[in-house]
This record gives sequence, C-alpha cells and structure tokens, in this order.
Amino acid sequence: MNKFPEIDISNILPFVSKDEINDLQPEINKHYKDLLRKTGKGNDFLGWVNLPSEISYSLIDDIVETANELKSKSKIIVVIGIGGSYLGSKAIIEALSDYSPLFEEKNINPKILFAGQNLCSDYQTSLLKILDKYDYSVIVISKSGTTIEPAIAFRIIRNHITKKYGYESAKKRIIAITDKEKGSLKKMSITEGYKTFVIPDNVGGRFSVLTPVGLLPVAAAGINIKSIIEGAKDMQLKLFETCDIDKNIAALYAVCRYLLYNKGKNIEVLACYHPSLFSFIEWWKQLYGESEGKQHKGIFPVGVNYTTDLHSLGQYLQDGMRMIFETVISVERTHYNLVVPADENDIDELSFTAGKDLQQVNKMAMLGTILAHVDGGVPNILISIPYLNEYHLGQLIYMFEFACGLSGYLIDVNPFDQPGVEQYKKNMFALLGKPGYSKEMDILKKRLNIF
Ligand code: PA5
Repeated sequence: MNKFPEIDISNILPFVSKDEINDLQPEINKHYKDLLRKTGKGNDFLGWVNLPSEISYSLIDDIVETANELKSKSKIIVVIGIGGSYLGSKAIIEALSDYSPLFEEKNINPKILFAGQNLCSDYQTSLLKILDKYDYSVIVISKSGTTIEPAIAFRIIRNHITKKYGYESAKKRIIAITDKEKGSLKKMSITEGYKTFVIPDNVGGRFSVLTPVGLLPVAAAGINIKSIIEGAKDMQLKLFETCDIDKNIAALYAVCRYLLYNKGKNIEVLACYHPSLFSFIEWWKQLYGESEGKQHKGIFPVGVNYTTDLHSLGQYLQDGMRMIFETVISVERTHYNLVVPADENDIDELSFTAGKDLQQVNKMAMLGTILAHVDGGVPNILISIPYLNEYHLGQLIYMFEFACGLSGYLIDVNPFDQPGVEQYKKNMFALLGKPGYSKEMDILKKRLNIF
C-alpha cells in the first residue's frame, strides 16, 4: 500500500489544546463542504480541487509528446513565466533533479532555465549569452497573457530565437500556455501559429501546477508526470474520504496553523533539511501568501533551509520575538547513503559521527532543532514524507493546496483572488507611460520628485 504524508502536532500541544483543535470540527465541516461543493468564496476558481482525478489521458499524452518533441531538439528549454506560472514547475524540477549546478553537455534531458520572473537586464543578458551557444526551445506561460515581466522576456527571447533559427523554424520551437481565448499571448499564438495549451478558466495561477503550466516544463525536464498526477490523485481521494480533523491531514494542518495564528503566531516558517526543496518552499510561500494575505489578515509565510539557515536565522528563531511557528517537512529516506568516514587521528574530533549515515546526522539535527525551538517558544508542526519522488511530491502538492483552501476560509478571506497584486502594476504602468495612465503618472512623478 502506498504511504501518505504524516503529520505530528505533538509539538504544538504546549501552545494549543486538543480541545481547541476538536472544537473547530464544525467550522471545518462547513469549509470542507464549501470546497467540495464549490459554494464558498471564490468558487469560480475551484477547478484545482478535482484536477488530479479529472485530468484526461489525452491531455497527458499531448503534454508528454510535446515535451519529447522539445527535448529532441533542445539542450535548453526556457520557461517564461512569473508567480504561479513558474514556481510549481521550478519546485518539482529542483526537488527531483540532481544538485549539480553545472551544465553538462552529455545530459540526456535538456536543462530548464527560467525567465520572465524578474526585470533584471543582467539576468536576461546572461541568459541570452547561454542561448547563443546552445539549441533551445521556449515554453511561455501566462494565464492573463498580459503580465509585464514574462511579456517583456518573451519579446526579448522571441527576437533572439527568430534571429537564431529564422522565422518559420523559431515558431516551431515556441509553445504557449495561456487562456483559451483572452489576452495578448493568446492573440499572438493565433497570429503566429504557436502550439498552445489552455489554462482552465477555473484554476488560478498558484493552483495551476497540475495543469500544463506545471506539467509541460516538468515533462520536458524528463520527469514522470504520470506519477506526480497519481500521487496528487491518491491524496485527493484520501482527503475526499472524510473531513474528520483526526483523519484528514489537510484539515489538521489548517486547523493547527489557524489556532496558532489566533494566539499571535503570525509568521509561519516552512523549514526543510534538503536544499532540493528550496524552490518547493518558494512555491508554498506564494500559495499561502497570495491566498491568505488579505483585508489585513493572514499568516506571513517564510521559508528556511536547514541546517544552512540555522547559522543565520536560527538565532532569531530560537531567541527573537515570539510571533513565529514552524512547519518542518521531513524526508525520511534520501536517494543516496553517505557514511561519515573513520579517521583514527580524530583531530577534527568528529569520531562520534564516524560510521553514521549523513541522513542520520541530518535527522538528529532536525529533531534536536525542533525541541530547541519548541523550548524557546516556537510551536512546531512536523510533516513527513517517506521519500522525495514524483509520487510523494504529487501528494504533498495537493495536500498543501487543499489545506490552503481551508485555511483561507477559516480566516474568512477569498483564498483564490489576488487583488493586492494589482497596485504595483498600476504604478509601474503609470511610471512607464502606458497609454491610459497619464493622470496617475503625473501624481506619482510628483510624489517621487521626478519630472
Ligand atoms: O497566482 C496567481 O494567479 C499569480 O501569482 C499569477 O500566477 C502571476 O501573477 C502570473 O500571472 P499570469 O500567469 O497571468 O502571467
């Protein structure tokens, strides 16, 4: 039988009682029904809830075939997108690939590089220099089709790829993933004849990792997307069985963080002990930050990589202001065993670790840190997965998505919109002189003292 992620909340019990947890069952019942029956806030964006069980075989085949086609002609695939349009694929690719940052010519799978997630000319220029040297293709992703960061990156890269391969061949190296009918990217795809995949209307960016948005780049990296979907589907079916807080891991996680939040723990630190999960934490930060941070409410999600960050933020965690709780993702088994060698001179005084597997050392660091932080007033939720592979990552992704929906409903916000993201865009457009923004431009320029 397949294993599921497990949750250990014993280290929040000094801060939250079992009764407080159980008392939230009626609220969870309601929010759970709202998610499943699509009757809650933002219910037009609940397509992700049934996504794993409803994704069609023909779509999966199309994604895999397209990925194979791109792989056959590319050493590099550039994924252009920002926010939910790139964080999910980056999270999965990094979690499941070798650590080596070096580009190896002999790689069978192309290297996936990301663009359109910043506006830095140095970043973009370095990327173009790499693209000068290697064969590449592009996956451009934007649900709205109008987001400025990916749109500018795409304009620059389109110019490059067209010069490199010629207009007709370049078009065959571009795949667009966007809305079925709206937005400039859709319009351009029709005009230029790019192959496209559709982001369903009812799935928002940060919940779109199990659509072509996440799956095509991941498949292009040589990762088995069927197993990811299988894991997510098994988790979906398990969470659909019951909303009993004791049996539904997403409900228990949502309830615990809500109770901690109500006790003044306004910051959740997601910690892991494997650097390959760095981008998974970035994905999680967007999921929770953009879903909950509304109406001056919500837990502020941050992430740390231990043991690295124990030597930077660890001090604050242990001793700083007490408004933090931690959630740790523990991976029970690593891909490789690496034993600390014996050394009879023992000048480094490490013989007490000799013969121990590094994963065991890492685990003791984790368990010791959890207790130290709990003793220092930082409650801890521990989520364990057996192994870092496609299947368990699929489970974890769906679990966090479902818990995020419940969490948003618990604090009574719409977890599926992001009105706050618009404000910076309006100001930027005004400052750049976008047509229609001239009044705002004058006001902002006066405020910034630039004429
Ligand atoms: O979760 C979201 O909806 C956002 O983070 C978007 O993914 C992000 O802003 C990118 O938008 P788009 O895909 O429309 O370019």
